[in-house]
Amino acid sequence: MPRTLDPELRRALAERVRYCHEMGIYDFYRREPHLPQFTEAASDTAENVPAFSSTPQSEMREEMAARKSAVAPTIVEDNIFEIALPKPESGVADPATALKLIREDLGDCTRCKLSKGRTKIVFGVGNPRAELMFVGEGPGADEDAQGEPFVGRAGQLLNNMIKAMGLRREDVYIANVVKCRPPGNRTPEPDECDTCSPFLMRQIAAIKPKVVVALGATAAKNLLAMHSSLGELRGRFYDFKPAGSDPSWAGARLAVTYHPAYLLRDPRQKGEAWKDLQMVMKYLGIEPPKKAPE
Ligand code: URA
Repeated sequence: MPRTLDPELRRALAERVRYCHEMGIYDFYRREPHLPQFTEAASDTAENVPAFSSTPQSEMREEMAARKSAVAPTIVEDNIFEIALPKPESGVADPATALKLIREDLGDCTRCKLSKGRTKIVFGVGNPRAELMFVGEGPGADEDAQGEPFVGRAGQLLNNMIKAMGLRREDVYIANVVKCRPPGNRTPEPDECDTCSPFLMRQIAAIKPKVVVALGATAAKNLLAMHSSLGELRGRFYDFKPAGSDPSWAGARLAVTYHPAYLLRDPRQKGEAWKDLQMVMKYLGIEPPKKAPE
């Protein structure tokens, strides 16, 4: 019977593995549980430190004790390194196939507590070869019911924004930071974002858009790992390339704008959002329409 890890240690280990994963490190090797040089039975004790060592024996003993506790063998649950396996879409050139593999890997996800209240997982929708990708926060009630992002009131406004840019919804790709509806439409919590955002990063890496538009503060902060205000983050491009993505891809430019739900609450900011979209259109070489949107 495998022993289970202390939850705090398990969380810390999972966090470290996730960090390595985001850094593009996927291969991990499990240390043999029996490490002769550091086990109680080992003969290489501080007393046996060779005379040529310049370290005083008392210091050496302390160091040895520290090293010993640092590598004390722990039997881990079999699934702890699940995240460290090579990504199924690695080396898959076709974005549609890569997205399918990412969706399959997500499965009937129960990785975080948002799974408990959801009706449908909202993976993402649109053109797998889109040059432009929009990233929102998380599904609302309509999205949860239909399994598609931005289909409610905020979605109608996003559709209008896309149309105003001279594009169709099916030309772009739309996804969220979290793929399950937070209860009562609350902001997703950091642990939920951390659990789910690697899938978003993989979607972006599969699609390789030219531009990613972060809709609102949650998307901006999670994609950029910056905690400035939305006002400070808007108005410029950021270089954006998920760790581990195709080395031959130069990466995307990332722009930040207001979330459509916020624009519904404060329509006076629509002009500012339009400026953000115009910056994106200019970069993508999209001819600005004659008339600005309502
Ligand atoms: N708001 C979001 O952030 N995403 C959706 O999919 C819908 C509303």
